[in-house]
Amino acid sequence: MKNKFEFKDFPKLETERFILRKGTVDDCSDIFELYANENVVKYLPLNLFESVEDAMVEINWYEKIFKEQIGLRWVIEEAKTKKVIGTCGYLNYEKEHNRIEIGYDLKPDYWGQGIMQETLGKIIHFAFTSMEINKIEAKVEPENKASIRLLGKLNFNVLFSILKSEYIELNEESRL
Ligand SMILES: CC(C)(COP(=O)(O)OP(=O)(O)OC[C@H]1O[C@@H](n2cnc3c(N)ncnc32)[C@H](O)[C@@H]1OP(=O)(O)O)[C@@H](O)C(=O)NCCC(=O)NCCS
Repeated sequence: MKNKFEFKDFPKLETERFILRKGTVDDCSDIFELYANENVVKYLPLNLFESVEDAMVEINWYEKIFKEQIGLRWVIEEAKTKKVIGTCGYLNYEKEHNRIEIGYDLKPDYWGQGIMQETLGKIIHFAFTSMEINKIEAKVEPENKASIRLLGKLNFNVLFSILKSEYIELNEESRL
């Protein structure tokens, strides 16, 4: 099967206000600040970061998924200030189905300024035009209104699911 997920170098992208680039050791303190914030990790499958070492582990993971060609994670750098304000990217690439999952987060000071809409717009275009991706999925908690609104603006449709724990809980309740 045709597979264009074969980048020799990490792809650097640009939007009007931001540079999307590979994360490096120099970004550790920004990544730490990002994920040491309770409001950022609230709906993410991540524990609150407790030290800069946690950020180093995260950046190493970005490197690993890129090398294994199962994902790409960009850090979002504000072009004007050179500050790293968040991350976005892809994980869990399934070659057989040309399917991938999207992930994203921003420091709270930057929420509500159309930043993620701008950056995701860029990486979605990139996935469909340069990575041979056919389907992009997003896993979102129903309470994460900002993320749901953002995905709606980007024309994502709803996907339903049920967890085993929810199924058991509901069925136990109906037996009472
Ligand atoms: C989700 C998140 C990335 C949104 O980024 P953002 O840059 O603030 O989003 P945007 O400014 O591009 O907003 C996109 C749309 O969502 C709306 N929106 C943003 N925050 C919202 C909120 N808290 N409640 C309702 N709508 C919201 C915006 O108003 C905009 O819609 P509009 O153009 O009609 O006004 C940000 O809230 C975040 O980092 N959250 C924590 C991490 C996280 O949950 N990531 C997603 C995991 S699935």
